[in-house]
Amino acid sequence: MLTVATLALAITAASAQTLTGQFECASGGDYNLCQNLWGSDSGTGSQSSTLISAEGDTISWSTNWTWADGPNSVKSYANVESTTAKGVQLSEITTAPTTWIWEHETQSDGIRADVAYDIWTGVGPVGTPASANSSYEFMIWLAKLGDIQPIGSTVASNVEVGGLTWEVWRGPNTNWEVISFFTTDLIQDFEVDLKEFFDYLVAEQDVDPAQYLQSIQAGTEPFTGSANLVTSKYSVSVA
Ligand SMILES: *[C@@H]1O[C@H](CO)[C@@H](O)[C@H](O)[C@H]1NC(C)=O
Ligand SMILES: *[C@@H]1O[C@H](CO)[C@@H](O)[C@H](O)[C@H]1NC(C)=O
Repeated sequence: MLTVATLALAITAASAQTLTGQFECASGGDYNLCQNLWGSDSGTGSQSSTLISAEGDTISWSTNWTWADGPNSVKSYANVESTTAKGVQLSEITTAPTTWIWEHETQSDGIRADVAYDIWTGVGPVGTPASANSSYEFMIWLAKLGDIQPIGSTVASNVEVGGLTWEVWRGPNTNWEVISFFTTDLIQDFEVDLKEFFDYLVAEQDVDPAQYLQSIQAGTEPFTGSANLVTSKYSVSVA
């Protein structure tokens, strides 16, 4: 009895890990959970992220953040990045199922934040997100909280992809192009095949199907306010 109880405790302790450092990461299952407080200098506040559990391509995680000042600046992108769903050309993808079930367990008034995928492609199979190897950053917004918007401007409206209706925004960033699927709806139970998004980008936004998928990230970009985002289930895979 004693042995079993001790073992159960040890497993629980090992699977829940809280990160507090600016660029601290933890690995679990097919993912790296990273704090990525890249814009923290543009305001004041703090954030922590917790890897709740992970097994194979399914992960549960949370992030608690409180940020003030610099209302138009993103403070961070706490996210999970798949270590397996990458390195293939868009034309080679037959399916890319993803599920993301999340909620803000707590949320302050007047919060400014998005909850979004960040999907990176480039001309070679390997590329760190937001690097010299990045050609495109595809965002899928599941939440737009407060008066914020994607980079660029609207290039298409009433676009139906993945069973939902989007505005498509487009504009340049450092050395890559950002194309965002944007909605003002709050989507907290998202279950789609990302291949439908890739197909749209190739057919309607002139994205080269020879582009390599370099990274799929899912996380939140807070500007100001405070919240506790809990992802009870996230998964993504590519075949
Ligand atoms: C995150 O916030 C929730 C709700 O406010 C709280 O219960 C939890 O203890 C916090 N977790 C950490 C690691 O700060
Ligand atoms: C850029 O691509 C090259 C060639 O594929 C690779 O060796 C390198 O690690 C990549 N660098 C970054 C920062 O992604």
